[in-house]
Amino acid sequence: MRVCFTGDIVGAAGKRAFCSIMPRFKAENGIDCLIVNAENSTHGMGVSINVINDLMAAGADGFTLGNHAFSNKDFITQAPKVKNCARPANVTPSWPGYDYFVFEKGNERLGVFNLLGQVFSGVNADDPYSKADEIIDKLRKEERCTSIFLDFHAELTSEKIVMGRYLDGRVSVVAGTHTHVPTADEKIFPGGTGYITDAGMTGAEDSVLGMKTETSVTRLVYKMSARYEPANGPASVCGIVFNTDASGRCLDIRRFCEYE
Ligand SMILES: [Fe+2]
Ligand SMILES: [Fe+2]
Repeated sequence: MRVCFTGDIVGAAGKRAFCSIMPRFKAENGIDCLIVNAENSTHGMGVSINVINDLMAAGADGFTLGNHAFSNKDFITQAPKVKNCARPANVTPSWPGYDYFVFEKGNERLGVFNLLGQVFSGVNADDPYSKADEIIDKLRKEERCTSIFLDFHAELTSEKIVMGRYLDGRVSVVAGTHTHVPTADEKIFPGGTGYITDAGMTGAEDSVLGMKTETSVTRLVYKMSARYEPANGPASVCGIVFNTDASGRCLDIRRFCEYE
């Protein structure tokens, strides 16, 4: 299966870039399944069913989230309706939605799940490693998945690399998100698991992590409060493309950034 995963979509600029670039990108690259981290897709914080529908119309097949999963409160009641959306599985059971979803193509079944790191990720998360064990077991035995993809939404590079190494040989790919900055370390580990520390973001280029630069300068330099707002202007889509074989092994993984 040929899979594309794009990093955190930030605000209207990110959504616009995704919707203008990805239909062509998906067709030209023969992508079977397009997975999108949507945690910042609605006004830069959270997600909404309207944005989910727009992204699906542009080719998104499924979604992952992160610490901002429910920053837009409307999504608390909407989440159960979005069956192809995996919210972080290692937070509180009071978060609505699903621990994973499965994408099917012929005889191949791709299980997709999302976990949150425990350090500086903004939400108290439970142990992600034992939760990964539990979900992988379920995806293999109950859901008969041939391939498995994990979006590990975490701040620390070490935490993400450890997760990739820990799951080597048991999942197809571990991709990191949350820092919004793509890393140049995509590789295949000895056991056959593809890995990248951060897939990057889909948002405005002239920004700080997709948000207006002035806001971050006000907060960090002048120590004044300022409300984060998504930046405008030309945006890029960053992500990865990978191939898995029938046994779920990652055959190749490459990162990309496409510009408006
Ligand atoms: Fe994010
Ligand atoms: Fe995040």
